[in-house]
Amino acid sequence: MKATAKAHTNIALIKYWGKRNERLILPTNSSLSLTLDGFYTTTSVAFHEEFLVDSFMLNDVPVTGEAFNRVTLFLDLLRNLSGKANLFAEVKSTNEVPTAAGFASSASGFAALAAASSRAIGLELSDEELSRLTRQGSGSACRSIYGGFVEWEMGTRSDGLDSHAISVAPASHWDVRVAAVVLSATEKKVSSRAGMKRTVETSPFYQGWLDSIPTDLREIKAAINAKDFEKTGSIAEANCLKMHATTLGANPPFTYWHDTTLRVMQTVQEMRSNGIPAYFTIDAGPNVKVLYLPENEERVKERLQEVPGVNSVTLSKPGPGVTYL
Ligand code: PMV
Repeated sequence: MKATAKAHTNIALIKYWGKRNERLILPTNSSLSLTLDGFYTTTSVAFHEEFLVDSFMLNDVPVTGEAFNRVTLFLDLLRNLSGKANLFAEVKSTNEVPTAAGFASSASGFAALAAASSRAIGLELSDEELSRLTRQGSGSACRSIYGGFVEWEMGTRSDGLDSHAISVAPASHWDVRVAAVVLSATEKKVSSRAGMKRTVETSPFYQGWLDSIPTDLREIKAAINAKDFEKTGSIAEANCLKMHATTLGANPPFTYWHDTTLRVMQTVQEMRSNGIPAYFTIDAGPNVKVLYLPENEERVKERLQEVPGVNSVTLSKPGPGVTYL
């Protein structure tokens, strides 16, 4: 009862920001992302009747505490689904999400864990079922089941059966590149989980964010379909700014940005004034992701590396969905 799966991380162009059910991880808005080739997690899961507890090794180091608890809680879902309540697992993961690239590994991590553990325990799940299951480990991870451009449909049901990702366009549809810009000072003070919760509960700007999502989603899907880079990039950049604006209205207010974050944002806008189409997006942290087209790769990388306070710039292409090894 063993299986190995590989899943890639994703970057949201329309952000998931807020939960309507924290236990089931049901979002308050639909979101859309691009799966990235450069950053992935490979996970092997073996269930055995002789195991008395679960174990979890990450990059050959045993994991304990909160990270281990999240994995065991996720395996409980599988034990319940398969009716094999007393079966424990040995989980071994390798992260090819360089910390230097500044991506949280939870998206690729939970997508690979869901795929490998469901196979290992004998469940034959469709991509949609797998995405729904993955969602309960980490919200944004449900999009990493698919490659390329992916939408997470928020759903309206209270049991979450209609909240899962779907493919918008495969990676082969359009070669949009992403530069992951990591700043020298990167400690994250407010987790995405806590940041969303505080914003939903206290920010007067939150309703404005929600009201703007259906239009952003409709327009970005049309732009992706038409391979309109300027439209896609400007919608993504504006959506990111709106998400971050909600945190300034929270009580107490907070922001994920550092001074270097602003400097990178300004550099991207300057590149555009100089005729290089590039757009930024930022998740729940100070690092910046920059969208650009392959023909501008050298110039974009060079400009970003020159910004004072930037530690590294890692480039990626669109990537595939979950695969089994
Ligand atoms: O799935 P989480 O809890 O890591 O939250 C992700 C939140 C954002 O990265 C800010 C947006 C997104 O859609 O990925």
